[in-house]
Amino acid sequence: MKKILVTGALGQIGSELVVKMREIYGAENVVATDIRPHETDEYQPGPYEIVDVTDAKGMFEVAKKYQVDAIIHLAALLSATAEAKPLLAWNLNMGGLVNALEVARELRCQLFSPSSIGAFGPSTPKERTPQDTIQRPTTMYGVNKVAGELLCDYYYHKFGVDTRGVRFPGLISYVTPPGGGTTDYAVEIYYEAIRRGRYTSYIAEGTYLDMMYMPDALQAVISLMEADSSKLIHRNAFNVTAMSVAPEDIAAAIKRHIPEFELDFDVDPVRQEIAESWPDSLDTSAAKAEWGFQATYDLEKMTADMLAKLRSKMLEKVN
Ligand code: SER
Repeated sequence: MKKILVTGALGQIGSELVVKMREIYGAENVVATDIRPHETDEYQPGPYEIVDVTDAKGMFEVAKKYQVDAIIHLAALLSATAEAKPLLAWNLNMGGLVNALEVARELRCQLFSPSSIGAFGPSTPKERTPQDTIQRPTTMYGVNKVAGELLCDYYYHKFGVDTRGVRFPGLISYVTPPGGGTTDYAVEIYYEAIRRGRYTSYIAEGTYLDMMYMPDALQAVISLMEADSSKLIHRNAFNVTAMSVAPEDIAAAIKRHIPEFELDFDVDPVRQEIAESWPDSLDTSAAKAEWGFQATYDLEKMTADMLAKLRSKMLEKVN
């Protein structure tokens, strides 16, 4: 990757990935794009363009203008929003991806597209979910992710587009909150722990889901995109994760820093059903073997960092 276009650059992943990539590849070589103008406090020095990913021509023109050789296609709706607006999700998640793939084909770019634990369903083995296994998701988001994985593989085999992807678990970060996901509780719980010393979880006790801290997620994208193509057997998309946790596990980790922290539950049936259809813990051995994936944050290390970073961020806002 030398000149990179990022879609969904103002989202949870994009807002941090752009910063990290600009440090590595040079600010002028990372073209951040999103559907809306950025706010002043979101501004990072470097090119910024408005791109609606459902507008194929608009995306192509921006990619061509900057002569990009890699596209990181992050613009998409998350699981809970997709369940509420399934047709919009299909049009945005699939329409955006096929447009990005077409741009990558015409301009001979590498393409990264994130898949998700949502690409699995109730009939998938829940523990140590294998890289290659049953994928019969029951959500619109999952349907989009499986179709997306297949479409990316198709563009690789049919047109030689260098497509790569990972199946992200819930991503935890302190910079930009996620929106409309099932795993969002694992971010909210940290904000609320600092703000109020308590959190009401919409996901039930005992519900295990894979999670990963954002620095590991960003490194995964870069490591996979820079990996030797000849070593990749799977491409779309690799299981990655750092921890398998239930809400009470995160609460216990927070309590070690904030002893008075309290967790209670008010389960949202829609998101609970989605969570129950997903794996408890993924097997990441293919990602480790094929491109050296490694997570560096476990629950304890992530919790210490999240609380420290969120505290100083909230203090900055007050002052
Ligand atoms: N974090 C995502 C969601 O909850 C899963 O990929 O929708």
